[in-house]
Amino acid sequence: MSGRIVVVGATGAVGAALARRCAARGVGLVLVARDPVRLAALAADLPGSLAVPADATDPAALRAAIAAAGPAIAGLAYCAGSIALKPLKRLTEADFLDAFRLNALGAAMAVQAAQEALVSAKGSVVLFSTIAARAGFPNHAAIAAAKGAVEGLTVALAAELAPVRVNCIAPSLMRSAMSAPLVGNPQMAEAIAKQHPLARLGEGEDAAALADFLLSDAAGWITGQVMAVDGGRSTVRTRG
Ligand SMILES: NC(=O)c1ccc[n+]([C@@H]2O[C@H](COP(=O)([O-])OP(=O)(O)OC[C@H]3O[C@@H](n4cnc5c(N)ncnc54)[C@H](OP(=O)(O)O)[C@@H]3O)[C@@H](O)[C@H]2O)c1
Repeated sequence: MSGRIVVVGATGAVGAALARRCAARGVGLVLVARDPVRLAALAADLPGSLAVPADATDPAALRAAIAAAGPAIAGLAYCAGSIALKPLKRLTEADFLDAFRLNALGAAMAVQAAQEALVSAKGSVVLFSTIAARAGFPNHAAIAAAKGAVEGLTVALAAELAPVRVNCIAPSLMRSAMSAPLVGNPQMAEAIAKQHPLARLGEGEDAAALADFLLSDAAGWITGQVMAVDGGRSTVRTRG
């Protein structure tokens, strides 16, 4: 594998776990997120990595950050995202547009910015959806619509950019900053954990392990897939 791996949303639960895994394989990294202090702290832990603060909803800033990776990009993981849950009645046009801008448009602009460098390295792209894009959950209209767009983007770009590989991970609820309003309450966390056949919430490491594999040469014949990392929640029913 030649070239760096770019992780957008690098300081998050998934992004940081993925960055640590890639660094352990000896891959150089470009780490992107908004908060420069947290980004610099992560980069200081990962030799050979570059911290490039940028807002993924600003295409020019995102493009400049990704350019820091140079002419060959072995992998791009777009791990930035949001979960703003509201009933349809309270959702505004801005809520829908914000969810789309960060989750779907940001992912598209990131791949576009990296396209030439990905092609030159025959690289791999990993995007993030949610199980709520295919299974219906109340109050998820804005995020499900935006993440559904990410799944469409995944198959379209896998077709258009081959041999660059493009795959998508669809997690269930994982402990992280964005899920804190839901899992910060221990009773709610326990109730949601019980909805998973594997009887626990996810951790960033659960999705990072699959992302690391999909970015690696070991996944060289896998493209255009949306894979759940969800403790069985989207497909498995238990006896209880
Ligand atoms: N956690 C869950 O339960 C869950 C469930 C289903 C799907 N997902 C998806 O899985 C992916 C990873 O989630 P996570 O749990 O690791 O999230 P997280 O821990 O909340 O981290 C989000 C990361 O994205 C960065 N970020 C947020 N807004 C950004 C922006 N506008 N520009 C640049 N960076 C931005 C954050 O850093 P800054 O704030 O410093 O920018 C942080 O590095 C996301 O796509 C998410 O939608 C998560």
